[in-house]
Amino acid sequence: LSGDEVIVVSNREPYIHQRNEDGTIRVQRPASGLVTAVEPVMRACSGTWVAHGSGSADADVVDARSRVRVPPIPEGGEPLHDAYTLRRVWLSAEEERGYYYGFANEGLWPLCHIAHVRPVFREEDWQQYRAVNARFADAVADEARTDNPVVLVQDYHFALLPRMLRARLPRATIITFWHIPWPNPESFGICPWAREILEGMLGSTILGFHTPYHCQNFMATVDRFLEARITQEDQSVSFMGQRTQVRDYPISIPWHPPADDALSRAQADQSALREAMGLSPEHRLAIGVDRLDYTKGIVERMLAVERLLDRHPMWLGRFSLVQIAAPTRSSLEAYSALDHRVREEARRINAWAAERAPGTPPPIILLIEQHDSESVRRHYRACEIAMVTSLHDGMNLVAKEYVAARETGDGVLILSRFAGAASELHEALVVNPYHIEETADALAKALTMHPAEQRERMRAMRTRLADFNIYRWAGRMLLDAADERQRARVQDR
Ligand code: G6P
Repeated sequence: LSGDEVIVVSNREPYIHQRNEDGTIRVQRPASGLVTAVEPVMRACSGTWVAHGSGSADADVVDARSRVRVPPIPEGGEPLHDAYTLRRVWLSAEEERGYYYGFANEGLWPLCHIAHVRPVFREEDWQQYRAVNARFADAVADEARTDNPVVLVQDYHFALLPRMLRARLPRATIITFWHIPWPNPESFGICPWAREILEGMLGSTILGFHTPYHCQNFMATVDRFLEARITQEDQSVSFMGQRTQVRDYPISIPWHPPADDALSRAQADQSALREAMGLSPEHRLAIGVDRLDYTKGIVERMLAVERLLDRHPMWLGRFSLVQIAAPTRSSLEAYSALDHRVREEARRINAWAAERAPGTPPPIILLIEQHDSESVRRHYRACEIAMVTSLHDGMNLVAKEYVAARETGDGVLILSRFAGAASELHEALVVNPYHIEETADALAKALTMHPAEQRERMRAMRTRLADFNIYRWAGRMLLDAADERQRARVQDR
């Protein structure tokens, strides 16, 4: 694809400019698995990223065409070169409410995640969703310098965009990646606009999901709702003159070989975190890092900690879960209710533990706040256990980030079987997060696991990640795109 034009479209932007109270501007990196994964790819292949301009100072740092040409310098990180152009699309409060909060996050998000939160479908949200998808289609067409760019459409905010783009740029190679699970046809069928969503997505040249299971669910849903030709052998769907390849591309993270000072850095991080929290050097720690989202199983995780302490009181005052939870979509009722419940459970469990072991450190250390990526990595290095207990998750990059951060080769990952990552990281302690006892047992096992076993499990997972890193994810998709372009060129002749 060298020399081809690459355009990425996502709702969430990689850099958010916020205005501080004193009038200065700060750059914020969003807590988004999508952004974490796509940004290194974008830096490697340059091009243009089209996204919603959502920061209070975003409009102050763009040129006349709403573009940021020189990406800002991330806090404490390497200065970025003029790696790519960020084109911001501005949305009115009404558009944001209907398209983002409403249809995307109260409709599609609970529809695709089986977390037993009922989706809400409102006609007016759907109208805004359609209108905003059309606005992004215009922005992409406006940015395109050629008539056949490679457009990488990201996630459930843009189900209608592929077909809208196809109408504007018929020769484009459109790769759509769905970062969240795809449910079975019965579940999906409750969406009043199921057909329109499928028709929109089938404007893509290639449609990617994290796992083969999500691909099968998608094909079964198409079979149920559309008169399309499905070819199982090459996993393609032909509909309205467009052939779409449906493939699994498990997303991943950048991989770096261990640093020379890995051991001393890990030791320094271990003592620094314990000292900052007033804990003894021997205090055992597990880490949880999530957006404060009801799909992440944060309450179930805390209940598992309580169950562990109830069954094995020897850990009372000697073990804590550090739970970083980044506030997200807070104006939605389901999210504010979760915020309340998480705080309440943490308070209750800590009070219960204090009664049993007065004057000892609390078992739940809840940090409801944003952390930059370096601070998260320090926490990974400092905590010998990670708990990823999603009730349902497309992939879950925290699981992979934890493994990548354990450069010293020890540590234990407890991982939900309902996260896509479980189909790659078999050496984790895989649990059903709904089964509190099972997760508590896994915690007990993690706390007493022999270092040799930890290393053996970690080594297997690290070897896999070194190979299946984020460049492999993007590389496989772009190679498939190159094949499709070659096929189209031959047909044109
Ligand atoms: C998930 C979605 C992403 C989204 C992220 C953060 O990972 O797949 O598309 O960016 O959550 O959510 P937010 O609504 O804050 O962008």
